[in-house]
Amino acid sequence: MLRIAIFASGNGTNAENIISYFQNSNLARVVLVLSNNKNAKVLKRAKHLNVSVLYFSRNELYASSKLITLLQNQADLLVLAGFMLRIPAVLIQEFPNKIINIHPALLPKYGGKGMYGMHVHNAVKENNEKETGISIHYVNEKYDEGAIIFQKKVPISPTDSPEQIATKIHKLEYKYFPIVIENLLNTDFKIDTQDH
Ligand code: GAR
Repeated sequence: MLRIAIFASGNGTNAENIISYFQNSNLARVVLVLSNNKNAKVLKRAKHLNVSVLYFSRNELYASSKLITLLQNQADLLVLAGFMLRIPAVLIQEFPNKIINIHPALLPKYGGKGMYGMHVHNAVKENNEKETGISIHYVNEKYDEGAIIFQKKVPISPTDSPEQIATKIHKLEYKYFPIVIENLLNTDFKIDTQDH
């Protein structure tokens, strides 16, 4: 059984959706949800679904090896689902092509530092975009610049508010993120599976 650890900073509806999706899978399970925010709703959601949770400080992420050792022992794939901090280089080196992120826009548009959540949808609206979408990509040391694994577009009507755009994006995320994770585990992780 492959082990997924999810990093999330806030609400955690994607985390919850991924946990549920893999609950009866023969391939993988979400074993841990980690957050840099003690009060993040995602921690409650995970506990409710009987998934272990871990809060960590900035210092534990950037200046200690404790978290890395723990992840090496407990996880095969790291999934960022609404995680707002940069992943340190040392963690990326320990999990090459095994950290993925979802971004609520069509990268490389509307990516980079400060572009998260409603900031993205507000910018999309301000620029009168005709379409937006989701991007699932590998995580490298630069915000939102890792190789893209999957993208899906959705049309925007001129009357859509940023909140309505957010709803459209969440719908796409719920539909595709678990499937993309599953496909990735079925392909890139095939050899690893034999070790577990
Ligand atoms: C999601 O839309 C995700 O794509 C976005 O945050 C939201 C989290 O929602 N991520 C980013 O903006 C990362 N730059 P959730 O907490 O309900 O899953």
